[in-house]
Amino acid sequence: MKLTIEKDYDAMSLRTARYVTDLIKSKPDAMICIAAGDTPKLTCDLIAQIARKEAIDFSRCFFVSLDEWVGIPPENEGSCQYFLRNYLFTPLLINEKNIHLFNALAADMKKECTDMDAFIKQHDGIDLMIVGVGRNGHIGFNEPGVKFEEYSHIVDLDETTQTVGQKYFREETKLTKGITLGLQHLIESRKAVLIASGSKKANVMKQAIEGEISTSMPASVMKKHTNGEIILDKEAASLLSGQA
Ligand code: F6R
Repeated sequence: MKLTIEKDYDAMSLRTARYVTDLIKSKPDAMICIAAGDTPKLTCDLIAQIARKEAIDFSRCFFVSLDEWVGIPPENEGSCQYFLRNYLFTPLLINEKNIHLFNALAADMKKECTDMDAFIKQHDGIDLMIVGVGRNGHIGFNEPGVKFEEYSHIVDLDETTQTVGQKYFREETKLTKGITLGLQHLIESRKAVLIASGSKKANVMKQAIEGEISTSMPASVMKKHTNGEIILDKEAASLLSGQA
């Protein structure tokens, strides 16, 4: 696994955005997965800016969602789908038929999981996954204790995730369950990039990078990836050994 430390959030976001735009230049029908949340916001903005400036055509690429809050409708601003449409699909003119998202309102959530796994398999797997990290070490909604071998599954959200997740919503929202790609999807992706910014992520990144690979720290799975990279800004890297 590669570790890259950038001077700040802007530089971290630019490096990450470049991975996406470079990939689409060389493989226009690549399959991409990008997390929602605060961390990837600038990355997404920069992808759209670079795409416009360099006339990169995203219309043939495939896109899958990483996760979703079960029961939260797509028009709710706190949903992952709302984020992805707003920051990526609309600005990049991604073809609706190439997008496969978890439906958080589906009656049969197990089928949502099998449909997602089948979509990814049919399209020859994920080329690039850009993920964030929760303060408890989660990736997507792969909470501490998750098996690394899991594909899509439904999750009881950790207390930390339920509490921290409130920041995405205008009003207090009951967040109990999530649906998520599994860590096996990440392990099988051709490239996986984890981004983290700010001092709030410093402790978890120290554990993920310097600790054992363990299901109690899902982000440590990055060390199992043969083409994985963690990109941190200086603040998120501040507790790593050797970083003064
Ligand atoms: C969101 C997701 C989550 C976030 C993580 C960090 O789709 O998968 O795992 O990446 O909770 O969120 P932020 O970036 O808001 O700190």
